[in-house]
Amino acid sequence: MSVLIAVVLILVSVALLFIILMGIFYAIDFFLDLPYVGTKRQKIDTIIKLSKIKKNQTVIDLGSGDGRLLFASAQKGAYAIGYELNPFLVLISRFHAQLKGLSENVMIHRQNMWKADLKVADIIFVYSLKKSIKKFEDFVYKNARPGTRVVVNLHPFLDKKPLKEKDGIYLYKV
Ligand SMILES: C[S@@+](CC[C@H](N)C(=O)[O-])C[C@H]1O[C@@H](n2cnc3c(N)ncnc32)[C@H](O)[C@@H]1O
Repeated sequence: MSVLIAVVLILVSVALLFIILMGIFYAIDFFLDLPYVGTKRQKIDTIIKLSKIKKNQTVIDLGSGDGRLLFASAQKGAYAIGYELNPFLVLISRFHAQLKGLSENVMIHRQNMWKADLKVADIIFVYSLKKSIKKFEDFVYKNARPGTRVVVNLHPFLDKKPLKEKDGIYLYKV
């Protein structure tokens, strides 16, 4: 009987811890410019195709989430830099980078993406809600080097014409 009570107590504690951690995760998410939504597999393939990544190029993901775009880029030989403010996602993506053997090529900054140094990028990924798309457009065109490829997921830039569009992914060149 006492073993049963101990097991129940452990299960309840684990469930409570899980609920508390999820609560903190969503509270952080709520206060950021963008909520966490991971890009779907099919769209990742389109993003990687449109990026035309060459070995040793530098890719920046503004709001890198669980790191999935960083990993796909690093697998193409890129040096992939993510900016992410949610500490849970930073931990998860750093852990996955280690597991996948990509930590040499993947760097995740727990830092505000609006402070990212875009000058080092050959390719930039943007995934934005409609309300922030103009801010991203201005940020990228003001700070990235001419020739930088910018791959935008979901909403197109408002004042620039994409070079290509496929599956709701838009390609621009600064
Ligand atoms: C729509 S998700 C995109 C995730 C990833 N890029 C992908 O395509 O799977 C946006 C991410 O931006 C992060 N984020 C929101 N505001 C941020 C900020 N100011 N600085 C850094 N990251 C931010 C969120 O935590 C979230 O993980």
